[in-house]
Amino acid sequence: MIKGQHPAQYGYRLLTPYRLRLTALTINSSQNMPRYREALISDLPSICVLGNEVNAFHHDNLPDIFAAEGEPERDRAHWLQSIERENATTFVAEVSGTLIGFVTVGIVDESHSLLQPLRYGRIGTIGVSFEFRGQGIGRSLMALAEDWAHARGAVDIRLNIWAFNDRAMRLYKELGYEIRSNFLGKRIA
Ligand SMILES: CC(C)(COP(=O)(O)OP(=O)(O)OC[C@H]1O[C@@H](n2cnc3c(N)ncnc32)[C@H](O)[C@@H]1OP(=O)(O)O)[C@@H](O)C(=O)NCCC(=O)NCCS
Repeated sequence: MIKGQHPAQYGYRLLTPYRLRLTALTINSSQNMPRYREALISDLPSICVLGNEVNAFHHDNLPDIFAAEGEPERDRAHWLQSIERENATTFVAEVSGTLIGFVTVGIVDESHSLLQPLRYGRIGTIGVSFEFRGQGIGRSLMALAEDWAHARGAVDIRLNIWAFNDRAMRLYKELGYEIRSNFLGKRIA
């Protein structure tokens, strides 16, 4: 698949009611409807801004763990990896030419001797601009990431979520994600 290709061209969409709605979104030519596509290097400045918003939310909840909001370009190298790296990509949602959401996803081949050999997709970060939340854009981005991983042979999809993030947790549960592990931490300083 060519990076930047329109999602309607992927040709592997499962026609669940939700994905039918996504198809309708992607082919709607109205200026105000989100358009979904893979990210290009030229999207990096906007992804940096959106990523900063996601990290600022995490910083508000765990200021001793997450960095405070900084110059957006600070994280450029981080977001670049999910555009350039083999077996990783970023999907973006845009409205009238402005990026309003993104999700990063990659492929992992499990090879640890204690674990079953398994290819899975790993969602890195998802974020939707505050004023566009609650309109199904997060779901659409998740569906694109899942379809992308599935098309590359992934049989499972995983992500990490911090315990304070009730809203994202609700969304993931609605999408069928189950809690498989709890990641614990304790301040000992
Ligand atoms: C998590 C996040 C990406 C979800 O994005 P979103 O676009 O708001 O997600 P959706 O709109 O698809 O779904 C969110 C909610 O809107 C509801 N919704 C979905 N489509 C809707 C529509 N057309 N109209 C109204 N509500 C809708 C969903 O049912 C869901 O409701 P809930 O919050 O009661 O569970 C977004 O809240 C965000 O960017 N949060 C900050 C960053 C973050 O926490 N990222 C995840 C880190 S793990």
